[in-house]
Amino acid sequence: MTVTKAQIIDWLGKSAAVLEENKAYLTELDGPIGDSDHGVNIARGFGAVAENLPDVADQDIGSILKMTAMTLMSKVGGASGMLYGNFFLRAAMGVNGKETLSADDLNKLLEVGVGGIVQRGRAVVGDKTMIDAWTPALAAFQSSLTAGREITAAMRACVDAAEQGMKDTIPLQARKGRASYLGERSIGHQDPGATSTYLILNALLEAIEA
Ligand SMILES: Nc1ncnc2c1ncn2[C@@H]1O[C@H](COP(=O)(O)OP(=O)(O)OP(=O)(O)O)[C@@H](O)[C@H]1O
Ligand SMILES: [Mg+2]
Repeated sequence: MTVTKAQIIDWLGKSAAVLEENKAYLTELDGPIGDSDHGVNIARGFGAVAENLPDVADQDIGSILKMTAMTLMSKVGGASGMLYGNFFLRAAMGVNGKETLSADDLNKLLEVGVGGIVQRGRAVVGDKTMIDAWTPALAAFQSSLTAGREITAAMRACVDAAEQGMKDTIPLQARKGRASYLGERSIGHQDPGATSTYLILNALLEAIEA
């Protein structure tokens, strides 16, 4: 099985839709431990990506992801714009020139993308950030492929791990980003960035399953 360019375009469109639907929820999560802008930021950014998609639809997957990166970096603002922008910028380099993605290509997209977030934000698992969703999600995807699973099954494992990682941020004390200024008061709240990461990965699964 391969992932087609149409599925990648569908992924980005579905991400924009689900982030728009969850805009109020994500902003609400960013209230007690942030500045109540995550949903608005991320929905605006992906909305702009969706608007730009038709202009790049005939280009290769790397170029589509690069447009996504540039759009997010210019439209999202705040920490998450640079972090998601870096994910897509690195991911684009990982699959430069491709028209379809094999399991290995998708693995590379995710692996170098997550590496881009870490390189930029320097967060580790347990810091209560989007990395708490990305890192276990990537590990689950990779171990699933190593166990001989198909892309779709590996993506399902990936999304399940992202969801668990997202929930696991609740009892954590934030050590990175705006939430870390709250110290112990950040405990007991789910991280908004880990939540948008879960939604974006679930959109990828839905695009691949369609
Ligand atoms: N260093 C980091 N590494 C990884 N993720 C981070 C880091 N700092 C913040 N985040 C993620 O960003 C999310 C907040 O995104 P948001 O769009 O609200 O930006 P912000 O924190 O308000 O930005 P700013 O403080 O620059 O205005 C957090 O929930 C967390 O998941
Ligand atoms: Mg915020």
